Amino acid sequence: MNDFLAGAFPRTRLRRARAADWRRRLVQETQISVNDLIWPIFLIEGRNHREPVGAMPGVERLTLDLALRAAEDAQNLGIPCVALFPATDPAKKTPGGEEAWNPENLVCQATRMIKREFPELGIMEDVALDPYSSDGHDGLVRGDQVVNDESVACLVKQALAQAEAGADVLGPSDMMDGRIGAIRDALEAAGHQDVLILSYAAKYASAFYGPFREAVGADSALGRKAGPKDKKSYQMNPCNTDEALREVAQDLAEGADMVMVKPGMPYLDICRRVKDAFKAPTYAYQVSGEYAMIEAAAAHGWLDRQSVILESIQAFKRAGCDGVLTYYAPEVAKWLRQEQGETRS
Ligand code: PBG
Repeated sequence: MNDFLAGAFPRTRLRRARAADWRRRLVQETQISVNDLIWPIFLIEGRNHREPVGAMPGVERLTLDLALRAAEDAQNLGIPCVALFPATDPAKKTPGGEEAWNPENLVCQATRMIKREFPELGIMEDVALDPYSSDGHDGLVRGDQVVNDESVACLVKQALAQAEAGADVLGPSDMMDGRIGAIRDALEAAGHQDVLILSYAAKYASAFYGPFREAVGADSALGRKAGPKDKKSYQMNPCNTDEALREVAQDLAEGADMVMVKPGMPYLDICRRVKDAFKAPTYAYQVSGEYAMIEAAAAHGWLDRQSVILESIQAFKRAGCDGVLTYYAPEVAKWLRQEQGETRS
């Protein structure tokens, strides 16, 4: 062991710095703050109605009037940004996913509504066809393939509709090649030069997305309809790590402002490598399956819920992330506020 890093015992006793709360606080290397949080919110049609998500106890799909109240909560808590995800009426889903660029679709309506009342709150929207496609895929299905270039053309239309509605951040989550450059060029050409792109740059073909697919109603479509039964031909192989750096490098070169690693906790090694290699704003998505695992264990009394949630968010900061998309955002914001109150008093 390098003497510079750790001197020999007993001159060096690492426990000295851990011996009291004030000492621990003083040497703490990373800190979570409300400024690190992006809160994903699910939308449904209708009025004054909320619908639970089966495998995500505590998470609900909200009609627009209630989503507006959720946005108000986010603003009051100091959460910088919310991410909107639609559960589209199955009658509006088509093989071409045309509802994705309908200016009257759920996310565009919600964006306009929220922006009007809370212009200071950031709004992010996913760019991908899966909530709108009757095949449940993020791109277009032709035969047994999810095709790339035609899908990118659709994603560009979707991105422009969202930017037009007032989205501040676009999150292409589809993993098609070349979509960041195409979206960026289209945004520039349409005068939307200040719209941020938070690219789902290293997104893995993960089994941890299961509960989300139920939440947006993409689960029943995927697997039953046309095309491949999984997303492995476009999302990354969970065995790979160098490839994540190539994905991130390409997205940054094409005009992404921020990059994301997804899922989160099983991929902390990727977060660290991406942050070290690029020094760009880096985010992790603590996905639906991670949420479900914590909730299930906590419900059994097997884990202390609050401690585990805070530790899981802290882990992202330690791994180099600048922020986290998490369904726990409002709760974490409240806990941090309480903690601050306690430390000050
Ligand atoms: C789809 C998308 C997914 C998630 C965000 N955007 C699912 C998928 O790729 O199948 C997952 C989020 C979560 O699991 O919480 N474009």
